[in-house]
Amino acid sequence: MKTRSPIVSVLGHVDHGKTTLLDNIRGSTIAAKEAGGITQHIGATEIPMDVISSICGEFLERMSINEKLPGLFFIDTPGHEAFTTLRKRGGSLADLAILILDVNEGFKPQTYEALNILKSSKTPFVVAANKIDKIPGWKSVENASFTESMKQQDSDIVFKLDQKLYEIVGTLHEEGFESERFDRISNFASQITIVPISAMSGEGLTELLTMLLGLAYQYLREQLQIEENSPAEGTVLEVKEEKGLGLTIDTIIYDGLLNKDDRIMMLTKDNKVISTKIRSLLKPKPLEEIRESKTMFENTDEIVAAAGVKIVAPHVDDVVAGSPLKVANANDEKVEDELLSEVDNI
Ligand code: GTP
Ligand code: NA
Ligand code: MG
Repeated sequence: MKTRSPIVSVLGHVDHGKTTLLDNIRGSTIAAKEAGGITQHIGATEIPMDVISSICGEFLERMSINEKLPGLFFIDTPGHEAFTTLRKRGGSLADLAILILDVNEGFKPQTYEALNILKSSKTPFVVAANKIDKIPGWKSVENASFTESMKQQDSDIVFKLDQKLYEIVGTLHEEGFESERFDRISNFASQITIVPISAMSGEGLTELLTMLLGLAYQYLREQLQIEENSPAEGTVLEVKEEKGLGLTIDTIIYDGLLNKDDRIMMLTKDNKVISTKIRSLLKPKPLEEIRESKTMFENTDEIVAAAGVKIVAPHVDDVVAGSPLKVANANDEKVEDELLSEVDNI
């Protein structure tokens, strides 16, 4: 048995800061380069545990969380209203989620939509109340924990923040969730944790990631155990032409092990099943976003979940984004039936 990284989806209304949050954690600037400032795809990035622990620091020790997870595998989703399918897809892959909202704007249509996705999939989540640096009068302390940053704020600003947070608490209550600011929670099993953050300045990321790891240890211990040799299960994000490689498929492997010698099966746009032999497996380096054009890939013989991988294989022209990916075995018909039973979920 092996422990895999939890898949963490970041969900929320357009422009509330999902990509900026991930940029801050991985040290990139993807949000600033997106056309129109809008995310239009599902993104995927593996963040190794040493990066997470360096952000969490002493908070991890204080929570007595040990570091047996290999890392966190983050999925970025679009918040624009046009992308409901992608939000659902990103949400359904998740072991855990961050529901992010702009603390100054509160709940918006796609915040509700995201919450409903999490509700119906019963995904444990934390709420990130983002953009605290935009509260008038807030004095930003770059990369400080929220606890440290709070000490620098005037009491009327802290009061203003709390007013905004209690509006969020109120809305969550109407939606059937009890919640509280992370440092006032009395029962982590029944209350949703709210962490005030600034994805821009990095304030509060310490506590956000610590709380996320807390959820992983609370809920996912068994779910994250994978058999060393179980066949991979995954999802197709995108079929993409790559210079020098031809058509490739970007996928997320969420369970098992994918081997370079595997034959894989997927659904096509007209609901047929195709079977194809993998030519090569290309793994983005840790901290690199799979959908970025500049991302560096390395050839690998096998991929262990959870991971993003670009697969080079023939006959993938008609593969549909969102298709499940399964490994073929001695019984192709059975795999085919399993795939066809998922046609309506794409
Ligand atoms: P979509 O993917 O298009 O739904 O948007 P998003 O949720 O990924 O938001 P994005 O990261 O693109 O951020 C939207 C805008 O808000 C950008 O201009 C960011 O620079 C800004 N922004 C994000 N987080 C913060 C923050 O904590 N403080 C401030 N001041 N600005 C922020
Ligand atoms: Na945006
Ligand atoms: Mg985005």
